[in-house]
Amino acid sequence: PLILGLVAILAYLLGAVPFGIVMARAFGLGDLRKVGSGNIGATNVLRTGNKPAALLTLILDAGKGGFAVLIARAAVGDDAAQLAGLAAFLGHLFPVYLGFRGGKGVATFLGTALALAWPVGLAACGTWLAVALALRYSSLSALVAAALTPVWAMVLGYGQMAGLAMVLAVLIYIRHAGNIRRLIAGTEPKIGKKEQAR
Ligand code: G3P
Repeated sequence: PLILGLVAILAYLLGAVPFGIVMARAFGLGDLRKVGSGNIGATNVLRTGNKPAALLTLILDAGKGGFAVLIARAAVGDDAAQLAGLAAFLGHLFPVYLGFRGGKGVATFLGTALALAWPVGLAACGTWLAVALALRYSSLSALVAAALTPVWAMVLGYGQMAGLAMVLAVLIYIRHAGNIRRLIAGTEPKIGKKEQAR
């Protein structure tokens, strides 16, 4: 129990690092929370027009989830890996460094899934990409990918991570409430578009 607590705390602190804000600052793009949707994720970094910064944000926000899972698994075991994934994800959503006002968790979710079971992670990324290429909405791609990931886990023989995938999917839906409203209203901007109704 003590070691699991430690794993959770360290994974949380890593997941809480807002790489979007760090990258925006590093690339001289200003305060990301004053851009577009105000979100701290790669999608919103892309609204600044800086593709390398957006790509790095995606990789690092996904990487922190994946890294937390892999380290926890190597050091402790499979249960710790799931716990670390959850903690890193919650860190991204509720980061102590930003007054607990964080992001929507999509990249961290994908990185966590890849590390927990790479076939499931690949299926989740493939789902995101397929919807993004077809319809060009980042949020909708995330919502479809999140909903289908528990299904991919079951189908691909990783049922032991379906429960966690479901919990993360529910949190992703809650965080996308504004996006869902805009999608329904037809005002959600497509990927890379600068303007954004808040
Ligand atoms: O990854 C977050 C994405 O699904 C939506 O981001 O900035 O368009 O609200 P944003």
